[in-house]
Amino acid sequence: MIELRNVTWQYEDDLPPALDDVSMSVAEGEFIGIVGATGSGKSSLAYAIRGMIPTFFEGGTFRGSVVTAGMNVAESDAQFSSDRIGMVFQDASSQAFGSTVLQDASFGPVNLGLPRATVVDRVRMYLERVRLQKKHNQSPATLSGGETQRLAIAGVLAMQPRVLILDEPVAELDPHGRKEICDILDELRADLGVTVILIEQDPDLIARYADRVLIMADGKIARQGTPREVFGDAEACIALGVFPPETALLAQELTRTFGDFYAETPLTATEFVADLLPRLSATPNLSAVGSAVVESTGDFVLEAIGVGHRYENGFQALNDVSLQIRTGEYVAIVGTNGAGKTTLTKHFNGIRRPTSGTVRVDGKDILNVATPDLAMSIGYCFQNPDHQIFAPSVYEEVEYGLKCYGVSEEEREKRVPEILAVFDIDELADTNPLNLGKGQRQKVALASILILRPKILVIDEPTTGLDWQECVQILDILDEFHASGTTIVVVTHDMRLVRERSKRVIAMSAGQVAYDGPSSEFFFQADVLTEADIELTPLSEIATMLAERVGITASDMPLTVDGMAALLAERVAP
Ligand SMILES: Nc1ncnc2c1ncn2[C@@H]1O[C@H](COP(=O)(O)OP(=O)(O)OP(=O)(O)O)[C@@H](O)[C@H]1O
Ligand SMILES: [Mg+2]
Repeated sequence: MIELRNVTWQYEDDLPPALDDVSMSVAEGEFIGIVGATGSGKSSLAYAIRGMIPTFFEGGTFRGSVVTAGMNVAESDAQFSSDRIGMVFQDASSQAFGSTVLQDASFGPVNLGLPRATVVDRVRMYLERVRLQKKHNQSPATLSGGETQRLAIAGVLAMQPRVLILDEPVAELDPHGRKEICDILDELRADLGVTVILIEQDPDLIARYADRVLIMADGKIARQGTPREVFGDAEACIALGVFPPETALLAQELTRTFGDFYAETPLTATEFVADLLPRLSATPNLSAVGSAVVESTGDFVLEAIGVGHRYENGFQALNDVSLQIRTGEYVAIVGTNGAGKTTLTKHFNGIRRPTSGTVRVDGKDILNVATPDLAMSIGYCFQNPDHQIFAPSVYEEVEYGLKCYGVSEEEREKRVPEILAVFDIDELADTNPLNLGKGQRQKVALASILILRPKILVIDEPTTGLDWQECVQILDILDEFHASGTTIVVVTHDMRLVRERSKRVIAMSAGQVAYDGPSSEFFFQADVLTEADIELTPLSEIATMLAERVGITASDMPLTVDGMAALLAERVAP
């Protein structure tokens, strides 16, 4: 169905090739997962399969041949052949064309010349499957980040192409939504023989759905095989900048301690536990190893009291939300797409005003504080960093806030290089931020906020679309600021981040708070997890399955891979 032969592609002559002699073939109905670090060539590979390379890019150099769905796509006008090849692009918001959600999703199928009734039926069906049926008549501009991605997916699915290429399509979806979309892809493959190419950072999702995984590195296919083959070599994955599934990492640690432990690398918590249980020592040692919850006692720096927010079109996005956050806390806000997370956090920096109730920042009612004054105590990073980046160079972008507050030139010349070094972007000082990758743009956005040394940092989805190393780097920096006293509130769908970094979770569902309590306990509240569309990470599943056996309360089980590996090493009978 897809055949690439010796494909080499350079966007510009003086750049290294984005694709370097890539050959691959994909059979009809195969589900291929593509992983790899930022800049490794994943999107370029997708463009090549779609037939956008070389035609859509001027000035590049192309060699090799690409045949997709029976067409030599690199040669012809085949990029218009959307009846056979469908693509969901990485930045979903750039795809919206219609004035309503329904129109937007119909655009593709209408252009295929399908009968009106077929278009309406299909579009309605897929909008329902991505859970946007209630938003039919709204403008795409009013959708949340995750809803926007869902719309882009529905529009492409409604064309029912033979080959579906999806470039990190579910990065902003809630964990349950990710699985639902993959279930749809899997069904299309099974029922209609659709070939699926999915680029995705989450190894657990790929391990669960893909027949074959490719790791891209430096424009080449560095490894490929079944998920078990590829992820089984956890070390090789890490060397290529790819995070292996947690079960593979744990298995690797056990193998290191006890010699050959697993005949086959476990890819799910169930597989992991099945082989482990018979080898766990019988005598439970009742000590708790989890980190004790430290009660925070600082002043309240963020407060919402009975907050409601009704948008201009009448939609009630927040309903009676009450919460209080103390100075020095690290809080994660999680929940279903459209639950109101972004709407809520925008109240903390005054972009949105409550239509009922009260919001206080640093003890002051935000209605009585001018937005610029608010920015002195609170730093806010948008869900999409591009919504805040505007300066022509990284240096100026990062310097801007200091200028606004009249910080002297001398002081600025000290602080800008300092913060650039913290984020490891000093070499990019003269680069235009918009030419950078998502991870680097995210760093620029964060640096430009943190340079102001805000007491409180509110960040909306700081790790989406970042590769593993970029994630770890950014989260480590946040940890440092937290350790030196900054209050951190992060909106996220990344449950590993929640588990390992935040101390408290606020889960939102349909504009209300569904849970507010310690992160360590959150993952064991089955009803809340269902309500907020949260899926457990394998490590939390393992903790739940093993807690009783090792004699530790589930919420006291270790929250990190290292911690869990150490505990198990103690409890496994040699
Ligand atoms: N400008 C707007 N006008 C009308 N409705 C809006 C507007 N912005 C957001 N909404 C709706 O309000 C609800 C909450 O949106 P919000 O962006 O707060 O969700 P979220 O929890 O951040 O979701 P995500 O995880 O997808 O980012 C959604 O149903 C969304 O469609
Ligand atoms: Mg949001």
